[in-house]
Amino acid sequence: MSPGEKLEGTELPRIVVPPPGPRSRNAARRLRRSEGSAIWGAEGSPIVWSRGRGAVVVDLDGNRYLDLTAGFGVLSLGHAAPEIARAVSAQSRKLTQGLGDLMPHVTREKLVRRLASLGGPLDRALLASTGAEAVELALKTAHLATGRRRVVAFTGAYHGQSYGALAVTDYPGLGRPFAAQLQDIAIRVPYPYPYRCPLARGCGARCDLRCLDAAKETVDRELRGPDPPGAILAEPIQGRSGCVTPPPEFLPRLAAYARERGLLLILDEVMTGGGRTGTFWEWERHGEEAAPDLLVAGKGIGGGVAIAAVLGRAKVMDSWKEHVLPSGEAPHSSTYYAHPIACAGALQALDRLMAADTRAHADRVGARFAEGLNSIQERSRVTGEVRAAGLMLAVELVRDRGSRTPAPDHTSNAIAALVHQGVLAYPGGVHDNVICLTPPLTITEQQVEFAIDALSRALQIS
Ligand SMILES: Cc1ncc(COP(=O)(O)O)c(C=O)c1O
Repeated sequence: MSPGEKLEGTELPRIVVPPPGPRSRNAARRLRRSEGSAIWGAEGSPIVWSRGRGAVVVDLDGNRYLDLTAGFGVLSLGHAAPEIARAVSAQSRKLTQGLGDLMPHVTREKLVRRLASLGGPLDRALLASTGAEAVELALKTAHLATGRRRVVAFTGAYHGQSYGALAVTDYPGLGRPFAAQLQDIAIRVPYPYPYRCPLARGCGARCDLRCLDAAKETVDRELRGPDPPGAILAEPIQGRSGCVTPPPEFLPRLAAYARERGLLLILDEVMTGGGRTGTFWEWERHGEEAAPDLLVAGKGIGGGVAIAAVLGRAKVMDSWKEHVLPSGEAPHSSTYYAHPIACAGALQALDRLMAADTRAHADRVGARFAEGLNSIQERSRVTGEVRAAGLMLAVELVRDRGSRTPAPDHTSNAIAALVHQGVLAYPGGVHDNVICLTPPLTITEQQVEFAIDALSRALQIS
């Protein structure tokens, strides 16, 4: 595409230069030289994005892609959603910075009230700029509310990469270089991963949550010890680990156990929240008995702006009250707390995400996408499992279905084959063998059909 060509966001891919083209390669080389190796994985050149609209991204060489990543699930309303752009632009002419804990601004007041009305019994809200920061805010809140420093966290969990968040994350290798600096606050228990039972029981199609019983035993033992946990932190569906979906009884049983033992339940809905899985919050699918004490939100709730939040029950959130500093200063703030532009974008995004037409569309295309992936699985030897919750989808690749041996090489090859067809997906899973798909909730039916066909070809099924 030429730089001036109009983009609607509903187009199908068009590859004009085999990716990565020369402009992408040159820009990536310059960037790599300036950034060093922290952000760069293996050698090799990525495509470099120049603009996007809806479910479409264009690279520097004019190639047009169908974006099934939505920027790691952030762009729930698509790239450059016009209503978000309008809200952000209007706010940028009105007020562009706040004064954190000293003086609030009106857009913050509106957003916080809106968020506090979204979570059923969770009628208090605090803001943050990233998911990791919000996870840490929830951990701080739980510590203040319980007086306990440790937290129960799950195998395969991903909660972000700042220090506090890394301490509760369990994603292969990420915390290792910093292990000496990380706080020992996590009590690790197995997460139900029916396709790869963490207890290696091979219970077949029906997971009986024996791992939850094992987790409870561990936690009960810790509760009798000198340094008991105060909270349980869980993702209702593990995102980065490859859309790992526990049986439906998991969340209600976990919540009931937390209540019985007087532990706070923190649900990390950074990936699952904002309507990505069908319900606005994933916990809502299981009814009020699965409601957490604290909920962490981020990504999709901003529709593309950098915002995150912690929602909580009043009695838990009010524990901050006793910790105001003698000077009168707040016990928690940051320079960009409730950044006005992010608040304005998020308010607009929430309106669109709650709208009946957005949700009905997402349900319809999500169901079709899942159906298409399931039909691929039936025809493919290397597709071990397809997991789908609304528009959070994953294809786990294996050497062969019998052995279930993870196939990270098939996965990277399939993702590269998708790029060459103009489709963007990303790898995930603790064995790097999952194709993760988190498209915008606004992706069109025609684009979904294209994606299914491209995936069939990438997995070499005719
Ligand atoms: C469940 C979950 N929690 C927390 C985070 C961290 O969010 P961020 O990358 O915005 O810090 C992520 C990011 O992928 C996530 O998926």
